[in-house]
Amino acid sequence: MDKLFVIGNPIKHSKSPIIHNYWIKKYSLDATYQQKQLEISDLPSMIEKIKDGSIKGFNVTVPFKKEILKFVDVIDYTAKDSMAINTVFVKNKKIIGANTDGIGFVSSLKKDLKLKLTKNSSILCLGAGGAAFGIISELIKLNPNLIQISNRTKSAAVELKNHFSSFNSTKFEVKHWGFQPKKNIDLIINTSSYGMKENENACLNIDLISKKSFIYDIIYNPSKTGLLKLADEKGINCSNGIYMLIRQAAESFKKWFNINISTQDILDVKEILTKDD
Ligand code: ATR
Repeated sequence: MDKLFVIGNPIKHSKSPIIHNYWIKKYSLDATYQQKQLEISDLPSMIEKIKDGSIKGFNVTVPFKKEILKFVDVIDYTAKDSMAINTVFVKNKKIIGANTDGIGFVSSLKKDLKLKLTKNSSILCLGAGGAAFGIISELIKLNPNLIQISNRTKSAAVELKNHFSSFNSTKFEVKHWGFQPKKNIDLIINTSSYGMKENENACLNIDLISKKSFIYDIIYNPSKTGLLKLADEKGINCSNGIYMLIRQAAESFKKWFNINISTQDILDVKEILTKDD
């Protein structure tokens, strides 16, 4: 039987077991996916278990996404920009560390939210942490005209800008936290953790945003952040991070089992995960 895990600390909040076990059953695979709370000192033994064949692979979540970098044989290109790994698998006898968050984000934009970005699109990214690096590393491949980065700590936004600004013709601008975007901004993404707490309201004035804009908050718990509640009230199209969560899982699943998760598989899992919302 193939054993898979999601490792982190704490880990009991993780929705990954629900997602992967649903697909494991659906595709009649002889596998299990469990959560495992670890300490940093346990990371080498997880890698050993992959090497001796007792584990097929694992997902990595907070706080080990960076710690795990030094234990894998190969850092996949998907993990290079964010220098953070969320998926570990074996390929050609090598232990690979990949990051499926960025691909999951862009795939959810296109396939679930049907949002078309063009060379004229302008994007505002709130936050400049690991999630922002992962998302922008994929988003930039769509060659949008402008990416503005607004972060509480300016230096992190500058670092993100410097990292990506020579990739292609996409322009980058660093903005202060609380910056109000232009009315015609196409996409606003909240990659920051602001909004996870109940008392955290929207960090921008929705009244000044056009109904043609789309607001994507990658937080999925709570299912509606202050930003999304206001967007809903004002009739602005928006989404929480549930599709990104499921799509990044689909990309990990593909790496382990070489199975392409269908749109129906995505919708089935979404229904299970959101039944209490
Ligand atoms: P992740 O890997 O999920 O992106 P992270 O690297 O810790 O996690 O980044 C968290 C992001 O949320 C950062 O951009 C952080 O801003 P700072 O660079 O100033 O730390 C942002 N963030 C966290 N709490 C915040 C808050 N209360 N208000 C505004 N931004 C916040």
